[in-house]
Amino acid sequence: MEKILITGAIGQIGSELTMALRERYGKENVIATDIRMPTDVDLRDQGPFEFLDCLDPHHITRVMQIYQVDTIYHLAAILSAVGEAKPNQAWMVNVNGLYNILEAARQYHCALFVPSSIGAFGRSTPKDKTPQDTIQRPDTMYGVSKVTGELICDYYHKRFGLDSRGVRFPGLISYETEPGGGTTDYAVEIFFEALKHKKYTCYLKEDTSLDMMYMPDAITAMIQLMEADPSRLKHRNAFNVTAMNFTPAQLAEEIRKHIPEFEIEYSVDPIRQEIADSWPNSLDDSAAREEWGWNPKYSMAALTKDMLDKITERIELPSEQKSR
Ligand SMILES: NC(=O)c1ccc[n+]([C@@H]2O[C@H](COP(=O)([O-])OP(=O)(O)OC[C@H]3O[C@@H](n4cnc5c(N)ncnc54)[C@H](O)[C@@H]3O)[C@@H](O)[C@H]2O)c1
Repeated sequence: MEKILITGAIGQIGSELTMALRERYGKENVIATDIRMPTDVDLRDQGPFEFLDCLDPHHITRVMQIYQVDTIYHLAAILSAVGEAKPNQAWMVNVNGLYNILEAARQYHCALFVPSSIGAFGRSTPKDKTPQDTIQRPDTMYGVSKVTGELICDYYHKRFGLDSRGVRFPGLISYETEPGGGTTDYAVEIFFEALKHKKYTCYLKEDTSLDMMYMPDAITAMIQLMEADPSRLKHRNAFNVTAMNFTPAQLAEEIRKHIPEFEIEYSVDPIRQEIADSWPNSLDDSAAREEWGWNPKYSMAALTKDMLDKITERIELPSEQKSR
């Protein structure tokens, strides 16, 4: 029976991954951990929760012993925009925290999932259909820490036989939990603002093209990769994965099909714009498709409809707006 530990379980990905893994493997077999206490009742009460700082190696191994963990999804991290404001903390959590998790996984013979990001690419990377194996010279602390993470996970596989696996996620879009301070957060905020105020001020330029993915596809990717036949995996860590590609202007146009009065304005944040400009326009995810059958379901149109429907159910709106 699998015993799964999730770090950073209260974050944008972790909160949904925890529920999906509990559904699949049984509530008692999925241990959610974070340095924040969960406010979500389901996450807190439906299965074990532990306070766990990934910068504390002794506490990591203690929790692993108590629960006899054999698989780790390591999601604790500092994201791109916060990482530029706090580079020291980004290095500590994203590199030293990962190192502590790798050592614990090696010691206790655990399988390990670690997500990388499109942020692991930089200005000198080919921008369109960015290949799986290519130039990676990012100039943000987030990017530097993500490339370091990809390399050290590959090293632990090669040197110690650790079963480490990972993907490079594009921007992730979801409605359950607020995003944690990344450059693609606009693609979440825009839906809430469109429904609440029919207006959104975007911090990226209208023609900034980035790859994106809806959270249900991201959850499928993680579970599918961790369950994949290891003999088929040539890359192991940091598979490019993507589902769709759009600019803020194109997403606004799609939202207007549902909310015709929706207006978008632009007030560019130079820091997040610079980060976005250094990332690929689009990714080539053929290695993930060939090696473990990656095949996303949600297009921009399907994502837009589902986000608007789900958020409408959640937020309090005047009744005439609900009947849109
Ligand atoms: N969300 C995206 O769009 C996206 C895209 C690409 C890659 N990723 C990667 O996926 C992973 C998870 O991202 P997310 O969006 O869920 O992030 P998030 O910011 O929403 O969540 C991260 C969680 O880590 C926790 N954390 C921070 N420091 C910690 C520490 N020292 N010990 C333990 N926990 C700590 C935070 O409390 C938070 O709940 C990260 O590695 C991120 O780089 C995310």
